[in-house]
Amino acid sequence: CGIVGYIGFRDAYPIVIKGLHRLEYRGYDSAGIALADGDLKLFKKAGKVSDLEAFVEGENTSGSVGMGHTRWATHGAPSDRNSHPHTSGDGKLTIIHNGIIENYAVLKEALTSKGHEFKSDTDTEVLIHLIEEIKDVTGLGLREAVRLALNRVVGAYAIVIMSEEEPDELIAARKGSPMVIGVGKGEYFIASDATPIVEYTKNVIYLNDNEIAYVRRDDLLIKHIDNTVQTPYIQELELKLEMLEKGGYDHFMLKEIYEQPRSIRDCLRGRIYPEQGVVQLGGIKEYVEKIKNVDRIIIVACGTSWHAGLVGEYLIEEYARVPVEVEYASEFRYRNPIITSKDLVIAISQSGETADTMAAIELAKEKGATIFGICNVVGASIPRITHAGVYTHAGPEIGVASTKAFTAQVSVLTLMAFYIAQQRGTITQSKFVEYLTELDEIPQLVEKALLCNEEVIKIAERFKDSANCLFLGRGSSFPVALEGALKLKEISYIHAEGYPAAEMKHGPIALIDADMPVVFIATKNSQYEKVISNIQEVKARGGHVIAIVSEGDTDVKAMADYTIEIPLTGETFVPLLATIPLQLLSYHIAVMRGCNVDQPRNLAKSVTVE
Ligand code: G6P
Repeated sequence: CGIVGYIGFRDAYPIVIKGLHRLEYRGYDSAGIALADGDLKLFKKAGKVSDLEAFVEGENTSGSVGMGHTRWATHGAPSDRNSHPHTSGDGKLTIIHNGIIENYAVLKEALTSKGHEFKSDTDTEVLIHLIEEIKDVTGLGLREAVRLALNRVVGAYAIVIMSEEEPDELIAARKGSPMVIGVGKGEYFIASDATPIVEYTKNVIYLNDNEIAYVRRDDLLIKHIDNTVQTPYIQELELKLEMLEKGGYDHFMLKEIYEQPRSIRDCLRGRIYPEQGVVQLGGIKEYVEKIKNVDRIIIVACGTSWHAGLVGEYLIEEYARVPVEVEYASEFRYRNPIITSKDLVIAISQSGETADTMAAIELAKEKGATIFGICNVVGASIPRITHAGVYTHAGPEIGVASTKAFTAQVSVLTLMAFYIAQQRGTITQSKFVEYLTELDEIPQLVEKALLCNEEVIKIAERFKDSANCLFLGRGSSFPVALEGALKLKEISYIHAEGYPAAEMKHGPIALIDADMPVVFIATKNSQYEKVISNIQEVKARGGHVIAIVSEGDTDVKAMADYTIEIPLTGETFVPLLATIPLQLLSYHIAVMRGCNVDQPRNLAKSVTVE
């Protein structure tokens, strides 16, 4: 979900609405807004931020204090009444919330027995009633009531509260869900991430877990929930406004696909020195001893980041010769995993906020492991709780389906594999020079790979009405197949599965018929011949083969129904190139099917709940 708040001298409504549009990628099944101008005004609606705007049209939206929310439902279906803000029983307090209050059922029962009546099915409404109850029973002010209430809450939250009785103050708090405060002159901005803030101020404070901010036009007080006063640390944002705009493309996703030559270049910049055969990763250099002696690496991540992790497994094992395990963070955290202080854990997360990945990190940390992060969003929570890390520098990714963040993660993992290999002496210097020279050329090759777009459009046209699709690859192209399938299902709602090509024989082959497109990653590498056999198996059963091939290929071309050429490159770098046509394929199919590619149904960009 996304949160935005404003207190200052301007009209709050346009700032809050614009902020909600910027945050819509975080959740978009309903939206709501509260404004204070003497009394409190609330507007909320199931649907997108534009539906809320249409609903508010013609209403009085005055007031220089306001807050808004865009929701990704956890408790209670998306509906007008479950939309945020929620209010206290007397209607004088109102709240917006991201996260989950885990003990809400117990709290709700206790409050119901005291006469509280609830208008929604949400855990959020329970929290604002709890604050009201504490305030009424103790006679304490709102600030203190909020603090005491938060001490009784189990779970994760980022909240903002407004009160009719104290309309010149916003109260914000966080635990496990991100929150940034923008510092202006005579005004403050609050948001889940910096995107709604950047056009007004570059000075921000990232709230820490268990902190409460009391925000007035000219005054900001931050306290820990144990009541101790905290000193705020003001940082300068590097984010630029144009990074958040579509820049002439129809969708953010397409813009982000086309940004990849640049984003990969940014990711490699200053980190590789091909002539000298040297990789430098400043973020983890203090851990060289650890790297040299590590026995095992565990990679934890979710979604697309997990796929990047799988590519990393191939690369690290191949070059650094360290055993790697790749784990879904959500499974790892609850499995009583075997972790020791000798382990190195690499957590991969675009947003740096994914709740399961954060919990997995905390667990591994408790057991004494060293944790590296690979994150895209600078200053997010994960980079702050890991021991060290490497940023991907892909720039803000707004499309919910990850594209440039994935290739940047794979780039960082390639760098890490080489870096670890360098420290452990598992690659010769001459090989290093060779690999790094090739890696240095990847951004240009990605640019060439993007030239397949016209061909991909034709293929998309042919298969846009398919009900199913299979993606197959071997070696490090297997995770690419998984990622290709995930992209297609996420944005076009076509059922798609990724499999290791050879595993096809153990199940998916039963599904192959004349209606089943099968996408193969069949580039020229060590398993080329084996993939060709798999293609023949599909053809023999009447399946349609779409093959991603290396430039100049003739063998696969003779067999496949459609081929898409990508530039020839060493096996190590194939994932960075083979991903490109798969991204374009899902993009075009989704657009042709009339789907909202940037905001696919039910999905959210950063999943801050477990
Ligand atoms: C959500 C997003 C995916 C992303 C996954 C992990 O499901 O829709 O695109 O891969 O979360 O997110 P993270 O920010 O941790 O990479």
